[in-house]
Amino acid sequence: MNAFTAFAGPDTLTGRLPLRSFATDRAEAEPIAIFHCPTADRFAAQADAIAAHVSTHGYAVVEAWDAETATLSEVAARFGRVQSHIRADANGLVGISVDTVVNREWEAFRSEYRGVSTEEFLPHTDGSYLQGLVREGDHYLQLLPPGMLLLQCWQPASSGGGNILVDGQRVFHDLARAHPRHHAALSTKGCVTYCRDDQIALDCAVFERLRDGTAMLRFRYDAAAFVADWAIEAFHLLQNEYFANPAYQIRLALGTGQIALVDNHRMLHGRDAFVNEQPGKGRSMRRVWLSREGLPVLRNAAGQTPEKRALKRCEAYRILEATAALTATPSLGIRPAA
Ligand SMILES: [Fe+2]
Repeated sequence: MNAFTAFAGPDTLTGRLPLRSFATDRAEAEPIAIFHCPTADRFAAQADAIAAHVSTHGYAVVEAWDAETATLSEVAARFGRVQSHIRADANGLVGISVDTVVNREWEAFRSEYRGVSTEEFLPHTDGSYLQGLVREGDHYLQLLPPGMLLLQCWQPASSGGGNILVDGQRVFHDLARAHPRHHAALSTKGCVTYCRDDQIALDCAVFERLRDGTAMLRFRYDAAAFVADWAIEAFHLLQNEYFANPAYQIRLALGTGQIALVDNHRMLHGRDAFVNEQPGKGRSMRRVWLSREGLPVLRNAAGQTPEKRALKRCEAYRILEATAALTATPSLGIRPAA
């Protein structure tokens, strides 16, 4: 396949199995697509097709030319602006080495950060606990959970550590049909609050309607979630009948150099428990977040840009300057009328 035929669509899994789908039901009917990019030029030629695939399916997998950190940054920059994280390095990358992490405050509260353990991490959206304002020049941006995340496999685990994806858009529509009352509760602001370490997102909805008409999925099923008593039954049902249901789960086993691009406002991602049998041979994934285009802009009523201690906690999650011309921006979020 050359760079031009790549526009016709990605390769599907035939003959080789660097990625496996164990999903049943409808998920199995859609083979997992891999965009083979043996060079940066081949990647650039396919960037629009990759973005279109994310818009349609909620995710895509890129097999990049190597597994370097710079490659993850280069791929990410093509799809949006990097949103930083408290465990990130100066480029917004998480999971490289703690030596490169800019901010070390979080380490005193390590148990709050599931990502640094080897335990199973139930399917969730990243940054569910984010809500605030970040200053950008003379105005402020409303901070939301990142619109996308990119996961780069640097070294697979010797055992376990597979990635799981769940399409929230499919669940959204199935839940509306089967349990309209629960669907309405989970779409109502105030049904849930998420708190992780120094971050809190109050009065949220699991399915929050944004101004562009899409719904943004915000979900995690652990001690970070505080659920309104009128929504608790719906919240548990959503987890037990849908998100934990293998019929809705797509399983990926990323190989070295492969990068999963995930619409974080539509899809859940999770991870099986894994074992690092030999020192230095452990599961190594790197992650980078991208902010969603068109975040709401706020201006100070007095025309000022005051320093506020309440906004200090948001700075670790600020949106970095673009490092490339944005040429391929996927449409994100759940489309209510599929
Ligand atoms: Fe995550």
